Amino acid sequence: METLVVDHPLVAHKLTVLRDVNTDSPTFRRLADELVTLLAYEATRQVRTTDVTVNTPVAAARGVRLAQPYPLVVPILRAGLGMLDGMTRLLPTAEVGFLGMIRNESTLKAETYATRLPDDLSGRQVYVVDPMLATGGTLAAAIEFLFERGADDVTALCLLAAPEGIAHMDEVFAGTDRPIRLVTAALDERLNEHGYIVPGLGDAGDRLYGVV
Ligand code: URA
Repeated sequence: METLVVDHPLVAHKLTVLRDVNTDSPTFRRLADELVTLLAYEATRQVRTTDVTVNTPVAAARGVRLAQPYPLVVPILRAGLGMLDGMTRLLPTAEVGFLGMIRNESTLKAETYATRLPDDLSGRQVYVVDPMLATGGTLAAAIEFLFERGADDVTALCLLAAPEGIAHMDEVFAGTDRPIRLVTAALDERLNEHGYIVPGLGDAGDRLYGVV
């Protein structure tokens, strides 16, 4: 998996405030939204375009437009919803699919419990958004699911990633020739014994939406 840790002072500033335990939920949501838009700028560098010509008031100008089918943005429920608006702000023509993932307590594997996606994703570029790449189990299962539906190019956007999660993704997708990219604001130190990213920012879903 190709991993990009976005190195930019604005990203670092917003992430620092996001991490702060004293940041309240409305501020957390706003900052997460702004941070995603900055990550999305980098994550869409390979977005597919087609060449076009438009007429300016002065002359014809060559340019590009986003190619069709338009990209699909897939937030992983619930915390991924906090990253959706930041993505669609930069990709307003993108379609949005939803994927709910839960850990099966017998097999300890992530399984889908809710899907609202096109049946056929062939030829689609997909942007998966989920704030925390911790063990990698959920993201890997989500991407396997998208590949089964025919997606051939997947970029994941995570606010934070742990080395354990990246190693898991590399192991699961070692044999694939389909491009998988990860764009994140920081690669943190490790996971703790409860599976939280250290230093991290706590439970992203709770901080976005409260403990429900
Ligand atoms: N999910 C979270 O919300 N936070 C973590 O630190 C790890 C997984």
